[in-house]
Amino acid sequence: MIAKSPVEEFSGLTALVTGGGSGIGRAIAVRYAAGGGNVVVLGRRAEPLEQTAQMAREFGVTADFVTCDVRDADAVTAAVDGVVEQFGRIDALVNNAAGNFICPAEELSPNGWRAVVDIVLNGTFYGTRAAGRHMLEAGGGSILNVIASYAWHGHPGTVHSAAAKGGILAMTRTLASEWGARGVRVNCISPGPTETEGAGAALWPTEADRARVLGSVPAARFTTPEEVAESAAFLLDPRRAAYITGDVLSVDGGQWLGKAVYADSAAGSR
Ligand code: COA
Repeated sequence: MIAKSPVEEFSGLTALVTGGGSGIGRAIAVRYAAGGGNVVVLGRRAEPLEQTAQMAREFGVTADFVTCDVRDADAVTAAVDGVVEQFGRIDALVNNAAGNFICPAEELSPNGWRAVVDIVLNGTFYGTRAAGRHMLEAGGGSILNVIASYAWHGHPGTVHSAAAKGGILAMTRTLASEWGARGVRVNCISPGPTETEGAGAALWPTEADRARVLGSVPAARFTTPEEVAESAAFLLDPRRAAYITGDVLSVDGGQWLGKAVYADSAAGSR
């Protein structure tokens, strides 16, 4: 449950959130609205997107949705242009849409590789290119990309997603240096295991998987979409995060650091 932000840090601003029909994308969209910002959510299915828009409207902002597949560059560009037409601006783009499944690399088909890389890496570029053009013209904006820590530490079974997320990290740093002087900030957020239907089904489908994931988190718990959205709001905030660009904020309970594996006597409070 997201409460109205006491600061209204996004008042008068507009954000587009891809994959905004569920999970982390929905929570970020609603948190933006809670901060007084107008929001448009983009995804493949109208019904969950409309639900998110309705949740956002409860904060008194204007909220809308657009259906499109982020793999379709023209449709993504049209969606971004539509936001600018409707609101006169686009201040934030959150590239959250993703597709994922665990698969041994040697068994992954070229089509499976393409599906994930197209959604995650190419989709992020299409949105970024389209929104970036408007932001550069307006003299500022913020792009936030949702990645995963296996982009840098690796994890078995994620070769397609890790390659795509690693590409996004490189894109983030490249564009932060390319667009920084023109007022466009580009950052990443890296959520750890988050209680969403999509992530659970794809990444910890059984109780045993879930217990193993939990055991890998120093904070000893899963996170919630709302908690991730709070960190996203910080990075999107043009005031508090004004001097942060090209960076990654891990919101993962320390998971990427790895947990102790040596003898129990050396493991402190584990
Ligand atoms: N294991 C191995 N291969 C898989 C797979 C799995 N679990 N799921 C999909 N694929 C392969 C398919 O076999 C196909 O390859 P092929 O033509 O060589 O057989 C390819 O990926 C495309 O699959 P398809 O279902 O046609 O693609 P899609 O574009 O409809 O689906 C995905 C996109 C692949 C990302 C799909 O997994 C998806 O929609 N997932 C739900 C959302 C999600 O992943 N959320 C993640 C939250 S962390």
